[in-house]
Amino acid sequence: MTYVRPEIAAMSGYVPGEQPQAGKFIKLNTNENPYPCSPAVPRAIEAAVAQGLARYPDPLANAFRRRAAEVLGVEPDWILCGNGSDDILTIVTRAFVGAGDWLRLPYPSYILYKTLAQIQGANAEEVRFDANWSLGDDFAGPRARLRLAFLPNPNSPSGTVLPPSRVLELAERLPCPLLVDEAYADFADANCIDLVKQSDKVMVSRTLSKSYALAGLRFGFIVARPQIVRELEKVKDSYNCDSISIAAATAAIDDQAWLADNRRKILATRDRLTAAMRGLGFNAVESQANFVWNTHPSQPVKPLYEHLKANRILVRYMQYADWGEGLRISVGTDEQVDACVAVLEHGLEVGG
Ligand SMILES: Cc1ncc(COP(=O)(O)O)c(C=O)c1O
Repeated sequence: MTYVRPEIAAMSGYVPGEQPQAGKFIKLNTNENPYPCSPAVPRAIEAAVAQGLARYPDPLANAFRRRAAEVLGVEPDWILCGNGSDDILTIVTRAFVGAGDWLRLPYPSYILYKTLAQIQGANAEEVRFDANWSLGDDFAGPRARLRLAFLPNPNSPSGTVLPPSRVLELAERLPCPLLVDEAYADFADANCIDLVKQSDKVMVSRTLSKSYALAGLRFGFIVARPQIVRELEKVKDSYNCDSISIAAATAAIDDQAWLADNRRKILATRDRLTAAMRGLGFNAVESQANFVWNTHPSQPVKPLYEHLKANRILVRYMQYADWGEGLRISVGTDEQVDACVAVLEHGLEVGG
């Protein structure tokens, strides 16, 4: 006998990528950054600890909001911070989507969106990407009780983007707000921050997990109109970001020179990985993120995933109904990517 809500008992829950806590792996499965974060971050953490942790943190993380606002060219009251961008996605879903409502997402994309709808007792509608990873107008079509749409841009697992002009077109047609999940936008050629100013339907979420090499810190934020931010404030936990993470995230976003240098390295290795995978016969999709989606025209890839794992290299194997299977490989260092490609080459020779 369980007293849990039936919606929760019925769902299986989101399963994060493998995070081995022991042993040495080359970890290319959850799109972490392979380089250490800006040296300003540990300094800020030391200073925050030295100040003591007896007091509650600033509930709105204003130090971060002020610095991020300058960097992004918005006002601080257009920003709300979260415990990772997953927290932001949760806050937004809670605020907009109630029991029996609908939430729309593209398919295939980030699996968590569906889980968030399930937690609310809401329904999720998946709209398929076209073969070239664009989205048709059906993504913006009418539906009763449609309350929110999620669009990861760049998308995962494909690493592809819709241009901001297309995102705006879809947002203007949608009968509900659109959250553009820009977890990977720092690796892309364009982003949708300016659309938040152009359309009151658009919100943008960001994370420090990927491009700032701070997945372990847990810090993300949303850029939205102040009237939306004020509503979201009511929904979040009072102290959803702690003093240490606020200090660290502020130092991280302040170091834009570090970001530019890291981006340059990741993009160079992304090219190297894409070329090597194509050399092995994979269809490697041109990526605007810090990972590459690879399908194989003639060989099943699950045995290759297993072969990599047996050699202590973790990548993400994904299989989608009606869409097929592939390997999503995060962009590591040149050495990590070369090791992955060498093991894959051997795996292909021995047939997995
Ligand atoms: C598309 C997308 N959005 C959001 C996230 C969440 O990132 P975090 O909660 O670490 O900020 C991820 C993480 O993998 C992601 O792939």
